[in-house]
Amino acid sequence: MVSEKIEKALNNQLNAELYSAYLYLSMSAYFKSGNLDGFANWMYVQAQEELTHAKKFYDFLHQRGGRVTLGAIEAPPTHWESPEAVFKATVAHEEKVTGLIHELVDIAMAERDHAAQIFLQWFVTEQVEEEESANAVLQKLQFLDGARGGLFMIDRELAQRTFTPPSETETSG
Ligand code: FEO
Repeated sequence: MVSEKIEKALNNQLNAELYSAYLYLSMSAYFKSGNLDGFANWMYVQAQEELTHAKKFYDFLHQRGGRVTLGAIEAPPTHWESPEAVFKATVAHEEKVTGLIHELVDIAMAERDHAAQIFLQWFVTEQVEEEESANAVLQKLQFLDGARGGLFMIDRELAQRTFTPPSETETSG
């Protein structure tokens, strides 16, 4: 059984993951409207990943006898100044999510919930990758400094990203 405190914290994170999916879908739509289909694809895959993160919290809460309570999802921004601005916002968002995951681990430790601590370790590792992959694109964009030819090269590269659903063992967190 999860404690009330853990249940609330996990539900908050479930909402935060759904917001992340919403945010990246909005970014994908922004790129799509600018005919940067590779960037749009990268963000679309990112949104799909966030939905699997949300699902992990949904499933874990049920596994532990908790109750899932879905709240309103905040509306994401719909416009950015440039591809670089989008990726700056992405890196900042992922850093914020990393902070939320770390706070969750602190709560699980304080509540002596060992199962939740183990479950959350997957997310601690995942956040390292999330920050790294967003940062890698941001650095390329910063290097270009607005050169359009380079932008289309990166667009072609980002078109290659595909969504791989986590395996069953990974899904159990
Ligand atoms: Fe669910 Fe991008 O972290």
